[in-house]
Amino acid sequence: MKTMLQYQIKNNVALISMDSAPVNALGLPMREALVNHLHLAFGDDAVKAVVITSNLSLFCGGADIEEFDSDMLWASPNLHELIDTVENGPRLVIAAINGIVVGGGLELALGCDYRIVRQSAKLGLPEIKLGLFPAAGGTQRLPRIAGLKTATDMILSGNPIGADAAAACGLADRVVASDDDFIAQALSYAEELVAARAPRRHCAEMQVDLSQVGDDFFDLTRAAIRVKSHGQLAPEYCLKSIELSTQRALAEALKIDTASFIELLKTPQARAMIHLFFAEREANKIPDAKVDKQGYDPVTREIGEVGVIGAGTMGSGIAIACLDAGFPVTLVESSRSALDRGLDYIAKHYHRAVDKGRISQDNARQLIARINGSLDYQTLASADLLIEAVFEDMEIKQTVFEKLDEVCKPGAILASNTSTLDLNAIAKITSRPNDVVGLHFFSPANIMRLLETVRGEATDADVIKTVLLFAKRIRKLPVVVGVCFGFVGNRMFEPYFREGSRLLLEGASPEQVDQVLSKFGMAMGIVSVADLAGIDVSYRVRESRRGEFVQDPSYQVIQDKLYQLGRYGQKTGRGSYFYADREKTSDPEVITLCEQLASELGVIRREISDQEILQRCLYPLINEGAQILDEGIASRAGDCDLIWVNGYGFPAWRGGPLWYADEIGLDRVLAGMNQYRESLGDYGEIWFKPAPLLERLVAEGGKLSDFKKT
Ligand code: NAI
Repeated sequence: MKTMLQYQIKNNVALISMDSAPVNALGLPMREALVNHLHLAFGDDAVKAVVITSNLSLFCGGADIEEFDSDMLWASPNLHELIDTVENGPRLVIAAINGIVVGGGLELALGCDYRIVRQSAKLGLPEIKLGLFPAAGGTQRLPRIAGLKTATDMILSGNPIGADAAAACGLADRVVASDDDFIAQALSYAEELVAARAPRRHCAEMQVDLSQVGDDFFDLTRAAIRVKSHGQLAPEYCLKSIELSTQRALAEALKIDTASFIELLKTPQARAMIHLFFAEREANKIPDAKVDKQGYDPVTREIGEVGVIGAGTMGSGIAIACLDAGFPVTLVESSRSALDRGLDYIAKHYHRAVDKGRISQDNARQLIARINGSLDYQTLASADLLIEAVFEDMEIKQTVFEKLDEVCKPGAILASNTSTLDLNAIAKITSRPNDVVGLHFFSPANIMRLLETVRGEATDADVIKTVLLFAKRIRKLPVVVGVCFGFVGNRMFEPYFREGSRLLLEGASPEQVDQVLSKFGMAMGIVSVADLAGIDVSYRVRESRRGEFVQDPSYQVIQDKLYQLGRYGQKTGRGSYFYADREKTSDPEVITLCEQLASELGVIRREISDQEILQRCLYPLINEGAQILDEGIASRAGDCDLIWVNGYGFPAWRGGPLWYADEIGLDRVLAGMNQYRESLGDYGEIWFKPAPLLERLVAEGGKLSDFKKT
């Protein structure tokens, strides 16, 4: 049997070191091992205190999420029983938090009497990000220990805090510099506590301090989360449970929490978020056949220096992402003015970070010093990874790749940030198509987590593996996709955008379309998204494929018209809406425009129900996802879901579009496609043909999330 931990006696202290890679998950075997060794220590008269720590670089990643859909989660000793053992034992127990501690790991530490924390550690309760709440005492003990305000912020955001912040709120009793011998410090701290006869600290005997917040704290917080949560359950559960900490005794509140947690775990929302958690894990696994053609495990290439070509919106953001991760960056432009603009943008970004207190002046200076701006491609000769972000134009991109082929060292990885162009055609222009890959960042590139990683037909396996590791280093979520127009994200976006626009022609208002989609949970409605992204930008993409849409004379006519009128969206103050001082208002001219265009095209305008808007926007998007899966452009439905949740504002608590489709029933999606195919006449015939995979899965009773292309 695998050893879960190490047990040692050091002087009069028992040292329990969790040792179960990768994250010391608190699954049943770990819980058993901890309880057994706690009893061993408690039964030993020579032991005066117990220190719980970890042999890994992190302290503990929390509950074993694999247990969430089985009874194992409750198998004895469950997490509550483990924490009870700590709390009710006869000796002082000290959590020695040597690295990241989240979820159940922090709940375990909250049950300990004292917490000593390494400076570099991070402490958090991220359950809300899984559609859950920290029900093993997190919501009860954290407010008692760290104060109501800090606890509420931590639990509702799901974001961790650092050691200093933990010390400031009382969560950490002592902080140890990162380069000190942490275990030695933790042991001597335990001995110090024993010598000082430090008291036990049992949360059941503590009260939440209500003096630091106003009487309306819960009302105000509840109102604030309702505005943001669009029907999401977890924030409400979190807050309700935190409120309990101010109303009930610990044991009673914990019982109520357990019942609420079981209830929440069964909801589609929690299932959806857990699906995304596993999808993220899976996304890092590259489908074997493609990668491992010769049956070898591709080794990775070394990435030390990065070159970015193009210092526009994307290039500057990509450079910042790389600088933040510690890479030196050479930024190459075609003109001095564009280069200066890009460098200025990057410098201002770091100065703003200093103003906001996020980094020190020194830090900003060092980061800015690591970027080398240049107009000469020769300066890219030593770079290991090149990321091209020039205009979205095949000819220009091919010229850039020809130059890169000339100057870059052998083995350098040549990446393109193209959002729609054929990566294989870009690769073929070089003498090394196997080194070419797509790295499709999302805007703003230094913030958005998603990185669509495009595998060309010739891309080497080790290139994919290397860029996956690189993505991790720059804190991105890479999802590997194949080559097609728009890859996965933009290809699925196309029918979604098309329907959003067509509905305006048929009689819906921009507000109605946007409200329906926002209410569903999208971060922003599609009409507003188009205004934000730039009506000129999407127009140019359409221009490059105009011939493909001749069959539908109504295709994006409103967007085309807005473009011709110079209404490019937010950037020009007018698009489908009118913008003044960042305020968006409706524009009657747009309705008139829609009426005129509809009459020219013979489209009869009518009242459109909210339900139709939702189905017309979502079903073709799901249908396209099914087609993408069938073509093998995405390897798993979960990959499409990750892309849409992390790149396009699809509500995480609905699990992504394909998970949502499985949840509502593929038969319903298919019936909807067929219904609109019929009711929308020629238009329906062109755009509402069900994907063969959708039809197949409905016939077989299958699910998109189970589909594997063979
Ligand atoms: P942009 O117009 O802001 O920047 C492009 C930059 O490339 C300009 O500064 C231009 O001077 C420079 N450039 C042009 N030719 C060059 C050459 N031969 N050598 C060096 N620099 C050259 O464009 P943006 O928005 O940054 O887009 C760049 C790429 O990123 C495009 O392929 C676009 O499709 C893609 N992309 C854009 C997104 C966005 O939201 N803007 C999102 C994802 C991808």
